Amino acid sequence: MTSILVLHGPNLNLLGTREPEVYGRETLAAIDALIADHAQRLGVQVRCYQSNCEGALIDALHQSQEQGLLFNPGAFTHYSLALRDAVAAKGLPTVEVHLSNVHAREAFRQHSVIAPVCLGQIAGFGSFSYVLGLEALVQHLRGAEGAQNE
Ligand code: DQA
Repeated sequence: MTSILVLHGPNLNLLGTREPEVYGRETLAAIDALIADHAQRLGVQVRCYQSNCEGALIDALHQSQEQGLLFNPGAFTHYSLALRDAVAAKGLPTVEVHLSNVHAREAFRQHSVIAPVCLGQIAGFGSFSYVLGLEALVQHLRGAEGAQNE
């Protein structure tokens, strides 16, 4: 069965109480449950992991056995060349997701160093960004599978 790694970056463990006017009131556990529920509907497996540490996220990605990556790198989005290199090195089809519309916020949030090594980016739909990202990733993986079997 297709399996997908979901990585959440720094401060996302505080969802629920963190700047609710920006990020909403859903906890990370609730978002993980939403992702798992949607994954079941799509017939894929997901494994969710959150860390505040850049190196731990890189290690999780290096060790991943999954076929795709759904990634909210948090603030690392905007400056972590190490995470960008890890995504590029691992070569997993990756969708970058954000709860908030980073393009409508401070200038420093409008640039992603990760997006150029991803299939695409989804931002601004709250927890639904993850659902949309998962859907896009699964569609991509199924398309790639179909092409391989041709
Ligand atoms: C975020 C946007 C980032 O700019 C911010 O640093 C986060 C959350 C989002 O999901 O909207 O931590 O990735």
